[in-house]
Amino acid sequence: MELCVFSVFLVCVCVYVTLQLIRFITADADLSVLWAAAVGKSPDVALRQKVVWITGASSGIGEELAYQLAAVGARLVLSARRENELNRVKRKCLDLSSLEDKDILVLPLDLLDRSSHREKTDVVLQHFSKIDVLVNNGGRSQRSLFVDTHVDVYSGLMELNYLGTVSITQHVLQHMIHHGDGIIATVSSIVGLMGAPLSTGYAASKHAIQGFFNSLRTELTDYPNITISTICPGPVVSQIVHNAFAEQVNKPLSNVGDQSHKMSTERCVRLILVGLSNHVKEMWIAQQPFLLFFYLWQYTPTLAWYVTNLFGRKRVQNFQAGLDADTPYFTKTKAKTS
Ligand SMILES: NC(=O)c1ccc[n+]([C@@H]2O[C@H](COP(=O)([O-])OP(=O)(O)OC[C@H]3O[C@@H](n4cnc5c(N)ncnc54)[C@H](OP(=O)(O)O)[C@@H]3O)[C@@H](O)[C@H]2O)c1
Repeated sequence: MELCVFSVFLVCVCVYVTLQLIRFITADADLSVLWAAAVGKSPDVALRQKVVWITGASSGIGEELAYQLAAVGARLVLSARRENELNRVKRKCLDLSSLEDKDILVLPLDLLDRSSHREKTDVVLQHFSKIDVLVNNGGRSQRSLFVDTHVDVYSGLMELNYLGTVSITQHVLQHMIHHGDGIIATVSSIVGLMGAPLSTGYAASKHAIQGFFNSLRTELTDYPNITISTICPGPVVSQIVHNAFAEQVNKPLSNVGDQSHKMSTERCVRLILVGLSNHVKEMWIAQQPFLLFFYLWQYTPTLAWYVTNLFGRKRVQNFQAGLDADTPYFTKTKAKTS
């Protein structure tokens, strides 16, 4: 009898573990985001009528954020450097939603021009009288080996990804503190938490973002209705590799490669909106095996180093062979042809 009960217990444990394993293998975000997606507030309710300012809204993740936010009825401020692209995004937002022209403000902005950020914030406040959500999304990546890269590239990455973000945040946060609520969401990266070859400067700028916002959150404990959220995506389809820094500031990347194997922009943005609607403080959003890396780096760093080095070697080999660094890691690297 005792043996029978024990056997049933063992089978139940095995079934439970197998089910959880399958859930983890098919997951594309951390547990808090997936939990929010299953039982939390829907973006359609939580973000309707909110005023959301998106930087980097002219392509990739920021562009898709604009479309999905317009569809749920959020009012938008679209910022980036290319005004014509922002107008294109605005037109599509209007097509996708019942928003009116005045509900979407196109506000060209250079994150590097910090002296303009107060004036830009004032323009938003004059237009909408408030800012409910700031999404710090504009930024650039990097594809180059440290030993070959000019230090100006490192300065450029910090100026854009880190200081540009800090500057906009400071102006908007003053307004949110005055009103006592709001969300400051910042698109960091998987390399905000881990290291990766060819991305030393990019990872440093995203680590800076993580450290900055984790500390800022602790300064705002008297403002429980202000949420500081960091979003850490793994690889996502966008223009990020096309726009990445190479060895010199103005040198374009020689091989961009096919990006279609990455997580879809639509899915990534849907998860971001779910996280924002439920005030998730840190979101890990990635398909496997990248999602596994988040957990390894967080909970088993020694194992994480070992596994990262295996993938990292292949990434450097791809790059040195003139291939896209993200060419599938398990295929044989072909020699450079030119
Ligand atoms: N895609 C991924 O795999 C991935 C993964 C993790 C994190 N991220 C992060 O996601 C964010 C969005 O990137 P994305 O993947 O959507 O890449 P993307 O398609 O290249 O978009 C980058 C955006 O940033 C804007 N931007 C660049 N320099 C700017 C400047 N000086 N001032 C203002 N805006 C500027 C660009 O607009 P203009 O050129 O018009 O200014 C563009 O709208 C970035 O912070 C990136 O680090 C991306």
